[in-house]
Amino acid sequence: MTRVFHQPREWRRERAEQVRDGSTLGFVPTMGALHEGHLSLVHRSRAENDRTLVSIFVNPTQFDDPSDLARYPRVLEEDLALLRSAGADFVLVPGARDLYQDDFRYRVTETTFSHVLEGAHRPGHFDGVLTVVLKLLLLAAADRAYFGEKDWQQLELVRGMADAFFVPTIIVGCPTVREPDGLALSSRNRRLTGSERDTAPQFARTLRMSASADAAAETLASAGFVVDYVEDRDGRRLGAVRLGDVRLIDNVAVGARE
Ligand code: PAJ
Repeated sequence: MTRVFHQPREWRRERAEQVRDGSTLGFVPTMGALHEGHLSLVHRSRAENDRTLVSIFVNPTQFDDPSDLARYPRVLEEDLALLRSAGADFVLVPGARDLYQDDFRYRVTETTFSHVLEGAHRPGHFDGVLTVVLKLLLLAAADRAYFGEKDWQQLELVRGMADAFFVPTIIVGCPTVREPDGLALSSRNRRLTGSERDTAPQFARTLRMSASADAAAETLASAGFVVDYVEDRDGRRLGAVRLGDVRLIDNVAVGARE
């Protein structure tokens, strides 16, 4: 049975009881519009913990573009149906007022890595991400929390924050789930037009197959993508592109040609 909590206070009461019973908890934070990528995190959590909590919260503070926030898909009933069949035990769906009683006066800022790549193109984005993730990690009080490698920079920053603030939850990174043609699953894929969807798989393929980041950027531009960046860093090649008004991000191991 899947139990849905809207009030953080009710969830905390439930979690306190679980802690008394000694049952372990895995936590999967999401913004909803769930797909197999999210569900892979739920499956991993279920395999490693007694219980699994999923949160659904479209976090306004991490959207630098108000129209992106307005267009973000909100399909709670579909999400709950998917989570029931995936066997999630608990779903937390807090309201913005509950999470931001302080009106975002208090925030977590990382001063270095959050300003490059995604951070350079989306000012303030990672302040919003890190702040909401810290709030959610403290609320969830889980043993482990699961994040996708799809958002590589986010995963690295969350790990760094958890270390910096002695967050007791173990941060677990999980591999990117892809369509058979290689396109990384994303909630934003549903906004691609038919022809954009046909072009989209070239993004991951080009990141993988190009001899350098610059060569990848060039190939993507001539295939019709607007390239925000392609950069190699610590053995990964990370990229962000736009097709029409849909922005896609992805990353691959450098030199991976499978
Ligand atoms: P969201 O985009 O909903 O993603 C929730 C989690 O699912 C993230 O850890 C993300 O990396 C992971 N994920 C998304 N697509 C995936 C894929 N194709 N394969 C594997 N994992 C995938 O990321 C966020 O929400 C937010 O920034 C959040 C962390 C919830 C804070 O608001």
